[in-house]
Amino acid sequence: MNKLAVTLADQHVSLSLKNPVLTASGTFGYGLEFAPYGDLRKLGGLVVKGLSLVPRDGNPMPRIAETPSGLLNSVGLQNCGVEAFLRHKLPLLPSADVPIIANLYGASEEDFASLAGILGAEPAIAALEVNVSCPNVKQGGAAFGQDPFAAAAVTEAVRKNAGDKPVIVKLSPNVSDLAAIARVCEAAGATAISCINSLSAMAVDLAGRKPLLGNVLGGLSGPAVKPVALRCVWQVCRAVSIPVIGVGGISSAEDVLEFILVGATAVQIGTANILRPDSVFRIVQDLPAACEKYGVERWEDLRGKLAVD
Ligand code: SIN
Repeated sequence: MNKLAVTLADQHVSLSLKNPVLTASGTFGYGLEFAPYGDLRKLGGLVVKGLSLVPRDGNPMPRIAETPSGLLNSVGLQNCGVEAFLRHKLPLLPSADVPIIANLYGASEEDFASLAGILGAEPAIAALEVNVSCPNVKQGGAAFGQDPFAAAAVTEAVRKNAGDKPVIVKLSPNVSDLAAIARVCEAAGATAISCINSLSAMAVDLAGRKPLLGNVLGGLSGPAVKPVALRCVWQVCRAVSIPVIGVGGISSAEDVLEFILVGATAVQIGTANILRPDSVFRIVQDLPAACEKYGVERWEDLRGKLAVD
């Protein structure tokens, strides 16, 4: 028996993962770019770059800025479009050995529904992740995830067209009550919640008197956001009964255990992959030793067991 395995499931659909470590969308390309750095088949799951109905060029350059505490990005969901992904990228991924999760982005509810129909019918896709949390686009993105009615409508539209695929809804920390948004997504048919996407942020060039990013605003990620992500995951886990996937500043196997301790079922590794392209593989490899060090025999012994008076 594989002691590291976890399951993402609601009452209707389920997805088994050989371990709880997935990649975070937007930090791992379409997967193939990272194949030279490790064995993709060892991952719990591979979440690919956000896909839209038609290709997107993304935001004006520069799109990346380093800060002393984290990374700012304003990529703007540049991608090759869903058809090119299905034709040219997906067939090259080891989908029989690792669950491939498609992250989808739409500028309207109808876009999300169409994408769910296309991706839901694709046997090599294991699950859909609905991006209602990107801070870098003018239409859709976080605007959907910040409005409970829109978040519910998008979740329902995707659920309706996704066939038997689990539907993960990725939420933004840039809201005043994340637990309430998670609850409406659960009621609208989400199989799982992933949180958090990046924090809306900016950086400036004082001497040049201009913003560092072409889009002015971007999303902050990396170790600086881990305490925010832990807080969000803890709050969301107390609010919903579906699985929660923790994302935000995770860069070691110990970090993974911390997120499971506050209630997460699985995690995604994001910015760490940009800093070191073998990060996610290293974390998977380190997980058994970390479990042994902290006396974790089964995930049930740790998940949600944070002692709070
Ligand atoms: C981006 O493409 O701007 C980042 C992806 C995201 O924040 O969802």
